[in-house]
This record gives sequence, C-alpha cells and structure tokens, in this order.
Amino acid sequence: MSSQTHTPKEIRDQAARRRTFAVISHPDAGKSTLTEALALHARVIGQAGATHGKAGRRATVSDWMQMEQDRGISISSAALQFEYRDCVINLIDTPGHADFSEDTYRVLSSVDCTVMLVDAAKGLEMQTMKLFEVCKHRNLPIITVINKWDRPGIDALELMDEILERTGMLPTPLTWPVGQSGDFRGVLDRTSGTYTKYTRNDAGARIAEEQTMDADAALELESEAWTTAVDESELLDLEEQNHDQERFLAGETTPVMFASAVLNFGVHKLLDTLVDLAPAALPRTDVDGGVRPVDSAFSGFVFKVQAGMDSHHRDRLAYIRVCSGVFERGMVVTHAASGKPFATKYAQQVFGRDREVIDEAWPGDVVGLVNASALRVGDSLYLDDRVEYPPIPTFAPEHFMVIRAQDSSKYKQFRRGIEQLDHEGVVQVLRSDLRGDQAPVLGAVGPMQFEVAEDRMIHEFHAPVKMERLNFSLARRTTPEAVPTLARERSVEVLSRSDGELLALFSDRWRLQGVQREHPELVLEPLVVS
Ligand code: G4P
Repeated sequence: MSSQTHTPKEIRDQAARRRTFAVISHPDAGKSTLTEALALHARVIGQAGATHGKAGRRATVSDWMQMEQDRGISISSAALQFEYRDCVINLIDTPGHADFSEDTYRVLSSVDCTVMLVDAAKGLEMQTMKLFEVCKHRNLPIITVINKWDRPGIDALELMDEILERTGMLPTPLTWPVGQSGDFRGVLDRTSGTYTKYTRNDAGARIAEEQTMDADAALELESEAWTTAVDESELLDLEEQNHDQERFLAGETTPVMFASAVLNFGVHKLLDTLVDLAPAALPRTDVDGGVRPVDSAFSGFVFKVQAGMDSHHRDRLAYIRVCSGVFERGMVVTHAASGKPFATKYAQQVFGRDREVIDEAWPGDVVGLVNASALRVGDSLYLDDRVEYPPIPTFAPEHFMVIRAQDSSKYKQFRRGIEQLDHEGVVQVLRSDLRGDQAPVLGAVGPMQFEVAEDRMIHEFHAPVKMERLNFSLARRTTPEAVPTLARERSVEVLSRSDGELLALFSDRWRLQGVQREHPELVLEPLVVS
C-alpha cells in the first residue's frame, strides 16, 4: 500500500528540494572544520566546534568511541540535515582516516554529489586522488573547494593546472580569490563579476561578515589584488574554464571555490552552489538496470550499519538512503533479501550523538533504523512493487589477522561479536574448515580497522581477543574448482567470505604471479570496486 497522504507531485517536489552530498578529502584538509562551518551556517549547533572534535578540542557530538576521541579521528558516519533557502541539505559524514576508505565508499553510494576539499598548501594528496577516482567511477559530480586560503600555499592558477593534469577534469572556478594565499581578502564571483569581501571575526565562532560590491568599488578598495584576480579570471575565460552545468553533471568538469573553513570564509557561497548547481535527489538504478522513479512507492537501501554508539544501551542502527516515495515511521516495508515484512517503528535522524525521532523522510534523505538486526549493508527495502538495488561492492582486503577469544568460556560472546562486526562491515570475516569458527581470519583495507574490531570485542561484546597477523597482502576471487590446486601451493590460503565469495590470499604480487604462471587455468580475479 503506498502512501495515502502524499501525491506523486508532492514527492517529486520534495525530491527536487533535496541536496544530498558528502565532503571528502585527504585527512587534515579541513573536513571536520568545514562540517562545523556548514552546521554553523545551518544554525543547527550555533557555535562552531560543537559538531566534531579532535583530541583536545571540546567534547563532540560526532566522536563517540573512546578510541576516536583518543586518536582524534572520526569513524562514525551520520547525516546532518538542515534547510537552506528553499532546499533541504543532507550532509553525509564520512570517516577522516584513509584506513576507513571502505566506509567512505559506502557513504558515496548514498549521495548525489561530493564536495572535494583540497588543502591550498598541499594540492592533490594521495587520498584526494583515490577519492577522485572513486567519484568518477560512480559518476558523482564533484565540487572542489580549495581550503585554507588564509595560509600561504600554492598559486591558484597552478592549483588549477594540477587538477586538470592529475584528474583529467577541467576545473571551472566559480569564485576566484582576491589576495594570494595567506592574504585572503575575499572572492571575485566569476558569474556576476562582483566582489565579496570577507571580514574575520573571532576564529570562526560566528558566521563571517560578508560584503558584496561591484567591480568599481572592489578596485577602489583592493586595488592591485582586485586587478590581479580579474586578470587571472580572464585567463580562465580564454581557456574556457567556465561553468557548464551539463559537463559538471557528466563529471567532465569540476566547479572550484576558494575558502577558509576555519574562518568561515566561502561557506555561504558553497551552500548557494549546492542549492543552485548540485543535483537534486536522483532515482537509483536497480540490479536489473531499471530505474524506479522517485515518485513511486517507498524504496531505499542500507548503506551503513553501526552499533555500539551508545554504551548504555546496546543498539544497532541501519542507515537507509531513501530512493523513492515517502518513508513514514511505523510503516511496514518488505526486506528484499529475505522477502519478509519489516516494521519501522523506531526511526531516527542521527548526527553524532544527536538523535531525533523521524516521522517522515523523502528521496535523498537518510533514516537511521534502530535495532534493525536483520539488515545488512546493501540490503533494499520497499513498499508495493519489488525492487532491489545493486549490492555495495567491498574493497579488496590487504591486511589479514587471525582472531581468537582469549577466554574460551566467552566463546558465545566472541561469536556474536564477530558476526556483528561482519554485518556492519567493520572488517571482512573470512572462514575455512581448516581454521574453524573459533579462529576466523579478519581482512581489512587499513590496519586501523583491526583496532576498532578489537576495541569493540572488548568493550561492547565483553570478549577479549588474541590477534595474530598473517603474512598475506593480496586477495583474489577464485572458484571452488581451484581450491584443491591452491591448497597444495605454499603461502597461499583460500577462505570464504560471508557474501559467498571465495578469496585466495597471497603473500605478495610475485607469489601470485608464480601461481598464475604454473596454473594458468585457475580463476584468480582481482576484487574490483565497481
Ligand atoms: P580533517 O577533518 O580533514 O582531518 O581536518 P580538520 O578539519 O580536523 O582540520 C585539520 C587542521 O586544519 C586543524 O588544525 C584545523 O583547525 C585546520 N584548518 C581547517 N581548515 C582550515 C582553514 O581554512 N585555515 C587554516 N589555517 N586552518 C584550517 P589542527 O591544528 O589540527 O587542529 P586545531 O587545534 O586547530 O583544532
């Protein structure tokens, strides 16, 4: 039964108002600071510094695990929703550390656009490049924000060249800095030709003062800094580095803006850009290649499962991206994987420690379903006509450890914990008859995932563990036919993953190549992220 109270037009209009995006960057480029600044602008929190925190900063609402607090990293992910102009902005948080890139990848499956933050002094860094690749792969439009312009950095035109050369995307600046890096006075708006002058206030605690004026006034005020900006902008015109909406949505170009997140400079313009240029909530393609229109009955998929957010009650949240229709709390939907009905009585909007009961959500929104233990990452939920969205592919693990319960009397807790971590995708759990259930192998993209797993096993499941590193660094997908041959090879092990894939592990590239040379008939495929 579809919603009785909402017309298809209403659903389409609500979807058109949604802007669902993630901020991604190399660690330290200023993602948390920008999130704070956006939240400040949204007046969700009122004072910058309250949404997120590094070690030593003030208590946060987003860092919930002790380990995160100690390390000053953010592992959890949630959605910040606020209204801006006539739009609803959904900012989906991503983990800051590269070791959790798989988590970031899952988040990227739930958004329609990304904001790529680049440190003006460092240019494109390793993780920036990886993320650019992933976005391109997923056809996600990218808005690039050059951050920390208040500090000395690389020349603006040089940065544009670097983006073009290294990503293949044409940078099309929407704003251009007035004053070189380290002397951030304001920006030239390349569309209107006006000048927005920024004034510092106490370290970004309040929204920065902005003053917009025409070119003559700008020239009078900033003299040479203004003419330099105008000259450089004209150079960009000559290279046709101007915004083109179609090319942006096709991922061929990336609009660029200049900002200082810590001073709140440029944040306002970023919000305007999201409203004006970022795509609205888009329909999703299903496993069969069909497209379920946004105004059809409710559907969505789980892009993240997370537990242990609150040590006082054992809860487990499944985050759903609404793809079509209206989500109404309490409605009974169908879980595509099991075909079973699924009640949605406990639905929340979550941002860090802030939770609010959510009664209604529209395409593009994120709903946290509480105690949804049947749900796994990638699962689809729907009302009326069946729909299944494509699974979220997993990364190829590169680090492997055997895990055992320290205390055999805690085996039940151990098993439950391992199962939970597997469901959430905290680590990949690999098993074989040889190793048995008591000593599964954990696979990770980054070693810090093991620390999270260990921490959770101890504190949440009360099952202290012993872990031992295995000398493998490479996984390939294989078939049951290949198992007997591979079993005879030294330094090779075959394990099965809970999604049914058989993974052959190798110590290194040379070992893999050796086996491939000797047994060219064996299936040993790379685990690609698609
Ligand atoms: P991340 O989430 O991407 O890892 O970066 P985060 O926001 O934590 O920022 C990393 C550091 O860069 C922080 O300094 C932050 O204050 C600083 N930063 C962020 N944006 C800007 C900016 O626009 N200009 C300047 N000058 N600095 C910026 P920190 O010393 O590590 O932390 P803190 O002591 O300042 O909190």
